Amino acid sequence: MMSKNRYGLRFYALAAGFFCLSLAAFVQGVLPMLEPESRSNKVTKVVRTDLGELKWVIDQATDYTPLELHGRQVYTREGCWYCHSQYVRPVTGETRRWGPVSQAGEYFYDFPHLFSTRRIGPDLTRVGLKYSDAWHLAHFWNPRMLSPDSIMPRFAALFDGPHAAKIIADANGTRTLEKTAATEKLFDFKSDKQILLTPNAEGLLFVPETGKYPVIFTPNKEYAGDTVTLVAESEDLRGLIAYLQKLGTNRGKWRDLFEPQRMEASQVSVPRSEEWTSYGKQVYERRCLGCHGVNGDGNGPAAAFIQKDRPRNFTLGVFKFRLTPSGSLPDDGDLLRTITRGVRGTAMPSWHELPEKDRLAVIQYVKYELAADRSKPGKPYLYFVEEPPQAPIFIAQPPAPSLALVTHGQDVWKQAKCWECHGNGGKGDGEKAAGLKDDFGFPIPPANLTTGQFKSGAGVKDIFRTMSTGLSGTPMPSFGDSLSEPDRWALSYYVLSLSAYTDPLTGEKMKISEKVRATLDDPTITASESRTAYNPDPRQQGLPDAGEAWAKKHGFDFTAIRDSTTDFKQSPN
Ligand code: HEC
Ligand code: HEC
Ligand code: HEC
Repeated sequence: MMSKNRYGLRFYALAAGFFCLSLAAFVQGVLPMLEPESRSNKVTKVVRTDLGELKWVIDQATDYTPLELHGRQVYTREGCWYCHSQYVRPVTGETRRWGPVSQAGEYFYDFPHLFSTRRIGPDLTRVGLKYSDAWHLAHFWNPRMLSPDSIMPRFAALFDGPHAAKIIADANGTRTLEKTAATEKLFDFKSDKQILLTPNAEGLLFVPETGKYPVIFTPNKEYAGDTVTLVAESEDLRGLIAYLQKLGTNRGKWRDLFEPQRMEASQVSVPRSEEWTSYGKQVYERRCLGCHGVNGDGNGPAAAFIQKDRPRNFTLGVFKFRLTPSGSLPDDGDLLRTITRGVRGTAMPSWHELPEKDRLAVIQYVKYELAADRSKPGKPYLYFVEEPPQAPIFIAQPPAPSLALVTHGQDVWKQAKCWECHGNGGKGDGEKAAGLKDDFGFPIPPANLTTGQFKSGAGVKDIFRTMSTGLSGTPMPSFGDSLSEPDRWALSYYVLSLSAYTDPLTGEKMKISEKVRATLDDPTITASESRTAYNPDPRQQGLPDAGEAWAKKHGFDFTAIRDSTTDFKQSPN
């Protein structure tokens, strides 16, 4: 028998559906706006103090620039949020995978928010400065170049190009490009400023900067063909990458405190064996080949997009980041550290999510297959076999930071003539800076030490290591013999102080009052966790943390618990 009901099942289903939708809209759309914390841009962020320490402080999130905002529109338009969420939850190890838990204040300038719910791809809340711009370019051109099993679509339509162009020799015999309508848009053939461009093995070439004279630059015979395929950035792409790099940087230099990327290793090793090397080959082909190339010559398919800080060419057997003395190859611990942490500020990603076994295996493959001179047929010269790494240097516990130490470091800086390359203020613009080259034939400017981005790590021990063993293959010398150990520690703290209170994204000085600065500089205040962040003004920062508003209304007192767990001491003033 049919339902006796006047309206029928369909009506109730419809009404229930409507109710559920409205409820969802209310709970997720309206309710959050009624919570006071959603109207605050308060966040906790990590800053570098004048003594070179890292501390958490309560501060404000900053708004997007017009370019970033444009990128946000592209992100919405392209439907990136179908597959990517923007919310780090405090569960299932998300904080070890991506970084600190999201805070309400981080979304203050997001309207509408792009939390999203489905995670077909990784969460993007903390993606800012995780990769270099060049990595993103390669990834948008074709995600499969970097992760072969990725299901992320290509976004090649966001690029300007591809344009085919012929390589010709100009009047001086320099290899340049033929003038066509397309090349004349990208280059200025009358300019006296050159841009060095290195195509990948297929002749693909990304043009990072327009308006210069193009020079096809192949110091290691990277490409022998006579035509290239040019691609360049569009305004959409520039905005999209700027937007991605902004995500998460409202939390300051948190990545410098991110445990998984701070791993230290000294002497781990697995024996050389067929099994390890062939397993390492599989790892290499999935994860590394895109940049470092089939033969390890540093010119994989994605290298077309990495025109600055090129992927390492392993066939020359030169490695920069070592605890082993100047002139020696790195040991397995050095390589494990580099691979786990990545090379900050360059396209070389951090591999902390890769199982340790994979990382150890790929090291064997790099050492015993790729790091070899194969120019004499049938007689490969395996660097790691012929010239075994020397014992690593010992790094003692660093001295406690103090103003006296940093001041002394500044004297050492002057006396050791670091400024000749790095410039007086450490911006990388010293008198000897121009025209420096690395052993691979590519230009290498001295590091800009005010950005706080260090290739081999931002801890004081990392800087000390660089001071003590130098960076092989680059003009950056070792000062292990010429400077005493105390001098090198002082210098290392001074180097860190050059990036005090700078924004990691823009490199600009943060707006922070003298008084707050003085308090944060006090070494007795530790504020080593977000939870115990230093609060510059407890009265004016009236807006409570998420959940606290609710607790207050219902008569719960959080402050009592909080005070007893706070692990920093408030200074007298
Ligand atoms: C069909 C789903 C899908 C879409 C749409 C999509 N992605 Fe992805 N994305 C993925 C997957 C899967 C991965 C992981 C594999 C990889 O790295 O390619 C990923 C990875 C990423 C990563 C690297 C994240 C990390 O931490 O390693 C970034 C950045 C990214 N996507 C940005 C974007 C942007 C920006 C858009 C829109 C223009 C977009 N994605 C569109 C699926 C998608
Ligand atoms: C997206 C590109 C990219 C991928 C993928 C990549 N690398 Fe790199 N790698 C680089 C770049 C760029 C450098 C050079 C950084 C610099 O010193 O300027 C580098 C440098 C290195 C170095 C040299 C460190 C030293 O001490 O000089 C090693 C070793 C290395 N990569 C190993 C790997 C391994 C192993 C993988 C795969 C698990 C991998 N890389 C994946 C781009 C990449
Ligand atoms: C002959 C030029 C030269 C001199 C002198 C020099 N540097 Fe460098 N330095 C470089 C170059 C080039 C790099 C970049 C290497 C790279 O990008 O791989 C660099 C990189 C660095 C880095 C960054 C390391 C990292 O992990 O990213 C630090 C720190 C540094 N130098 C400190 C110093 C200090 C301190 C002195 C003086 C004691 C000094 N340098 C003297 C050329 C020089």
